Amino acid sequence: MNDHDSEKISGVLSSMGYAPSAALSDADVILLNTCSVREKSFQKAFAFLGRLKKMKEENPSLIIGFCGCVAQQEGSRIFERAPHVNFIMGPRSLGSIEKLIDQSSSSSICLDPLWKDDFSMIRFESFVRKTFPKAYITIMEGCNRGCSYCIVPQTRGREACRPFQEIIREAIFLSESGFLEIELLGQNVNGYRFEDKTFVDLLRGLLKIHSLKRIRFTTSHPSHLSLEIMREMKENDRMCNHVHLPVQSGSDRILKLMNRGYTARDYIEKVFWLKENIKDFTLSTDIIVGFPGEDDSDFKDTISLIEKIEFQNIYSFAYSPRPGTPAAKLNDNVPHSVKLERLHSLQNLQTSIQEQANREWIGRDVQVLYDGKSKKDNNMLSGRTKNNKIVNFYCREPLKDRIVTVKIKDSSVHCLIGELILS
Ligand code: 5AD
Ligand code: SF4
Repeated sequence: MNDHDSEKISGVLSSMGYAPSAALSDADVILLNTCSVREKSFQKAFAFLGRLKKMKEENPSLIIGFCGCVAQQEGSRIFERAPHVNFIMGPRSLGSIEKLIDQSSSSSICLDPLWKDDFSMIRFESFVRKTFPKAYITIMEGCNRGCSYCIVPQTRGREACRPFQEIIREAIFLSESGFLEIELLGQNVNGYRFEDKTFVDLLRGLLKIHSLKRIRFTTSHPSHLSLEIMREMKENDRMCNHVHLPVQSGSDRILKLMNRGYTARDYIEKVFWLKENIKDFTLSTDIIVGFPGEDDSDFKDTISLIEKIEFQNIYSFAYSPRPGTPAAKLNDNVPHSVKLERLHSLQNLQTSIQEQANREWIGRDVQVLYDGKSKKDNNMLSGRTKNNKIVNFYCREPLKDRIVTVKIKDSSVHCLIGELILS
């Protein structure tokens, strides 16, 4: 979501006549788009800001904007901590960026998350998209769920859904610009509702745009991923057979304290429906370890859920209290060393599950939407399958098509490796 916000911000900058600078030290304007979902990302934002202090001393006309969730969370306290910042701007105020840059000789603030949305304020035609041939489309902002550990409802504000027809217009624009895959974005993306239109209506509307070959969405909350949505995924092979479905914990006691609104069993049942009904279906998830009060037996429940489900990949985090959240009032009583141990053992387990699962793909032919060179090996191209596996492959000739068939010859923990099959 933040990456896409940066694409929007880049769009505004470029329509103001700015272009990317080759080096940070050459820049006239530096905007930091920050994340405060965990303590670590919050600290990172300030560490980076510290590095810019000297640059500002050497070049007083440099404009520094501090944007995103950390800006929203900290507000004007940022000016006390970092007087070299010209302006701060929250994630729901992107539409004000041009004004803020123009006014940045005087310190200005633009924060109120409920005040206005950028839906119509930044034209989607101007976004600087960095992920061709895949594009992100924001369908809603904010979140009303109130998971007890999460700061997002504070920083990104209440849920607001984007008008149905505007989303369709953006998708048509993208398809006419050659994009083949779209990923719908929202904190609780399946909860989309605009007037009488639901998320399923939106999928049906988008599926009418036939030149879009793949449709994904993120992030799903397990309570909102309904049977109706899952059926729609089953019935349309342009719907990707992968979902990112954060489970957070395998312990019902902890899920309750987290205010997640489902049990481990509800989650497992949903996942098994998907795996049984949709070919080669894969899942990724988020897990927090060391939530206040999490004991060995709770953690064992998480481990056993991971063994049952066999996720394609897991983003796992040590719990960190976030200011103003309900969980921050609980006693953060799991020692840091225990959090790290749990993280370690969870990640070791997941590594062996992933290695094994990827090995099983050796010998198969897969369809890959190729998006560029492999980051690891410049002689290889890279892309993703519909079920979101990374595939690196050798190819000697320039590719005509963006979706190609690759024979898988090898695998690793994080990717499949293969050779292009010429059609
Ligand atoms: N501590 C650790 N992890 C967190 N996440 C959200 N809030 C916290 C927190 N306070 C994780 C959740 C979420 C992901 C984006 O970040 O797993 O799904
Ligand atoms: Fe945070 Fe929960 Fe909303 Fe996700 S669903 S953004 S974890 S409050």
